[in-house]
Amino acid sequence: MGIPADVVSKVSADWGKVGGDLGSLGAILFEKMFTARPNTQDYFAAFKGKSMSELKADPALKTHGAKVLSLVDTMVKNATDEGKLKSAVAEFVKNHKARNVGLDLIAGTKPELIAAIVQAGGANADAWGTFLDAFIGLVKAAS
Ligand code: HEM
Repeated sequence: MGIPADVVSKVSADWGKVGGDLGSLGAILFEKMFTARPNTQDYFAAFKGKSMSELKADPALKTHGAKVLSLVDTMVKNATDEGKLKSAVAEFVKNHKARNVGLDLIAGTKPELIAAIVQAGGANADAWGTFLDAFIGLVKAAS
């Protein structure tokens, strides 16, 4: 199985453009996620109850965003190492289960993440779709 080589190469090319500043990309992701699915904001103690303009002024949006995107960074950089992907996803699923964040909430992030990457300059939305489907498949298997 594994992720197709052309998908890995397109996603890696995009990541070279947008993955250098995980904080900024993470802040874009949070803005999209909290706008599209306002209930997700409540899961983050640091963000709960804040307006979008307060969030945009809060440096924590970038620091938390960078944390979230660090898993995407690991996935892209180890896309051909199935063992490493599985262990990273297993830890992620365990940590998120403990916060009541399950498969549906995680899978819902897919279009928001693709939109954030495209907004930041990524060019391969379709490849990201395939890549994130593989990620969601691993999440499902580990859930
Ligand atoms: C593709 C989707 C996602 C990825 C890659 C991701 C990744 C991460 C990573 C790497 C961390 C830091 C490590 C940790 O504390 O576990 C984190 C923290 C967290 N995530 Fe996620 N996450 C995703 C989706 C979500 C969603 C949908 C929610 C809630 C609805 C969520 C809620 C949280 C919370 C509450 C934290 C802790 C933040 C803190 O430090 O206070 N995550 N996430």
